[in-house]
Amino acid sequence: PICWGNMMKNPGWYVTGYNEAMMILKDTRFQNRIPLPQTSKKYECLKNIQHDMMLFKNQPDHKRLRFLVSNVFTPKKVEYLRPFIHDTVNDLLHQFQQQKSIDVVSDFAFPLASLIIAKIIGVPQEERYQFRKWSADLIQTIDFTRSRQALDNGNAMTIILRDYFKGLIKKRKNSPEEDLISLLIKEEQQGDRLTDEEVIATCILLVIAGHETTVNLISNSIVLLLKHPKQLMELKEKPFLIEGAVEEILRFESPTQMTARIASEDITINQTTMKKGDQVYILLGAANHDPNKFQDPHLFDIMRYPNPHLAFGYGSHFCLGAQLARLEAQIAINSLLAWKDNLKLAAPDLQWRKLIGFRSLSELHIT
Ligand code: HEM
Repeated sequence: PICWGNMMKNPGWYVTGYNEAMMILKDTRFQNRIPLPQTSKKYECLKNIQHDMMLFKNQPDHKRLRFLVSNVFTPKKVEYLRPFIHDTVNDLLHQFQQQKSIDVVSDFAFPLASLIIAKIIGVPQEERYQFRKWSADLIQTIDFTRSRQALDNGNAMTIILRDYFKGLIKKRKNSPEEDLISLLIKEEQQGDRLTDEEVIATCILLVIAGHETTVNLISNSIVLLLKHPKQLMELKEKPFLIEGAVEEILRFESPTQMTARIASEDITINQTTMKKGDQVYILLGAANHDPNKFQDPHLFDIMRYPNPHLAFGYGSHFCLGAQLARLEAQIAINSLLAWKDNLKLAAPDLQWRKLIGFRSLSELHIT
């Protein structure tokens, strides 16, 4: 469940066991750090932005930042988006009426995730197309292998988005609206509020977190259901099964396969001692297939219950957008299944991206 490895030149402890993953994720001695080397000057913008992201903060800074942002992600605020998500899905599907086949990734899941996150943040309607292109370019640079090219592009895209959000913050300070940027600017808790830099970093974090993983979840769902036609039929007949189905898809093909921590001191877990400064990779996808936790873990079963998967992480960094991602996926999948009878893969071979952190298809053509 915990072993030393060097996957794609990333030396560290690899955690595959469910209980061990949970123990590490809730243990604050395992800390989050920004993934860039402290010395690199070249990627200043990327580093500064990452520095202000809650994902890379530890206590007490993390608690403060998360507290100020979490008010915008309450179940009530997410539920309020339901009609918008429905309308966006229907508009997209309507555009495909005349098409013989579609690429679920680029024609459906990506535009959907992008339009929703743009709406939440407060990107004006007329700027959403440009925003989608920038987001796509930024997402392409996410790469755990941290190649020089990925870092160069990531830094360049971060500068573009930082400047864009700077302008939007200025606009919303003068004329606030009912969007996340306006709320974050005015959100004050116990005399504290976010700085402009923190608002920008939060928006960029949401762009990354809200796209990559949700796109993966929706496209992985379609593959899994097409591979399990009986369960697909059952879901078509009983759309109310969608909630459990999405949980099983999250478990079975976890969109985020891995997260990382650093041991802040020597720590022993189940007789394995991890030294201060050691990198620890928590393989969420593997933990979600741990036979000590899940009966028949390699069996895909939309009726599986209970399903305490770790696809959204665990502990203080538990995914802030989990409810939103679930709602988006539930509406997208049910609508896509209802859209056309006899959905099929257009080509038998699937193109998985070569990433170790995400379970991600580069394209998925269906007909
Ligand atoms: C954190 C997965 C969608 C916002 C996380 C973490 C995971 C995760 C595993 C924890 C990382 C860690 O502990 O190191 C997912 C999956 C998603 C999804 C599988 C979709 C299927 C979203 C969406 C948003 C979002 C739609 C927002 C729009 C965040 C934020 C954090 C986070 C802000 C950082 C929380 C913190 O550090 O306190 N997500 N996520 N996620 N996620 Fe998600």
